[in-house]
Amino acid sequence: MFKLVKPASLAALLFLGITNACAQNTTSYPGVGRAATVNEVNAWNIDVRPDFKGLPKGSGTVEQGTVIWENKCASCHGAFGESNEVFTPIVGGTTKKDQETGHVEALVTNSQPQRTTMMKVATISTLYDYIYRAMPWNEPRSLTPDDTYAVMAYILNLAEIVPEDFTLSNDNIAEIQNRMPNRNGMTLDHGMRTVDGKPDVNAVACMKDCVKEVVITSSLPDFARDAHGNIATQNRNFGPTRGADTTQPPLAKLPGAGYQMKVVAMTAAPASAETTGGAAAKELFTKNNCAVCHAANSKMVGPSIADVAAKYKGNPDAVALMVKKVKNGGAGNWGSIPMPPHPQVSEADTTTMVTWMLATP
Ligand code: HEC
Ligand code: HEC
Repeated sequence: MFKLVKPASLAALLFLGITNACAQNTTSYPGVGRAATVNEVNAWNIDVRPDFKGLPKGSGTVEQGTVIWENKCASCHGAFGESNEVFTPIVGGTTKKDQETGHVEALVTNSQPQRTTMMKVATISTLYDYIYRAMPWNEPRSLTPDDTYAVMAYILNLAEIVPEDFTLSNDNIAEIQNRMPNRNGMTLDHGMRTVDGKPDVNAVACMKDCVKEVVITSSLPDFARDAHGNIATQNRNFGPTRGADTTQPPLAKLPGAGYQMKVVAMTAAPASAETTGGAAAKELFTKNNCAVCHAANSKMVGPSIADVAAKYKGNPDAVALMVKKVKNGGAGNWGSIPMPPHPQVSEADTTTMVTWMLATP
């Protein structure tokens, strides 16, 4: 969904490029663009490294963080970071002992039903970087550095790493790193970069005693196949991992069947029973990333299309209401998780999609 932010910024960059094309040259592409200014580079250069390079100055208290969390984070992650509805939990599963050892015991004992952020994250800089860069999900880059410190202080307090009256700042963040429960849980043994001219990978290619055939030992029962909607529409359609079309039964329960499914999903003609209008609306629905949150029959982040259709059946104002809601976003009709606004989708396209959603039997 946040890909939607990109067209605007790309357009802005192109615009800068074009207006300055005549004024300046670059050596690689003469006559095209200009060197980025220091301020432009700074605006993009927001990464914070484990050695705290790139960390902005600032501070925030647990108390300030509580207010930010309640207003901007709790709707998706739960009041106490438990995220028991849709999203993965942020806090839980770590102990005082883990803070001493730097290893999270629950990762070994599997005593937690689900791994939480505080169980996994080894570097506190990552927490800063991620929140500042990407959260809240529906409004990334809206937090100031002080907001980010404050909301982190709140998370760290929930995880019992800092006390209630704590102020987190650029000055003491390194000390808190020494209390991160999984700080020693990270390994560089399977890294991807080159260190001192050598790849930082210690693996040895294993081509002996290989199994003859891979046997899949567990699989989803057919009735649960599309429990999360059509996985094909929720994955990239390039790269090694693509989603199977889970609206179809599996082709064969054999190793490699996933690959065949993929090929079928990609080459299959659009369902012939669809009217042209329906097919066009469906395409818009996928293209605009609506399918990431809305499935045909099951609740994902948003309500299912069938549920929306049922709720507004016979309501003459439904199309107008829904068009407005999709444009402006908001929560409350289906729970506390908000739908982000979609100002970039044209009203005509939104009307087509919403009409199709509401007409779904
Ligand atoms: C509209 C829903 C929504 C809101 C509001 C929101 N988040 Fe998130 N958050 C998500 C989703 C979805 C992910 C997972 C994103 C991904 O994996 O690409 C996530 C991931 C995270 C993670 C990383 C989890 C992990 O272990 O990988 C942290 C930390 C986090 N959010 C903190 C925050 C904070 C702090 C706020 C408030 C300032 C916030 N979120 C607001 C939806 C939300
Ligand atoms: C990030 C997830 C997300 C995306 C992307 C998303 N929605 Fe939603 N949508 C939601 C949530 C959550 C709700 C429930 C809001 C509420 O409780 O009022 C919702 C509700 C709706 C509703 C019912 C609104 C109501 O008030 O009953 C419609 C219609 C809808 N979405 C259409 C769309 C369309 C069309 C798109 C694509 C342009 C889209 N959604 C994209 C999450 C999303």
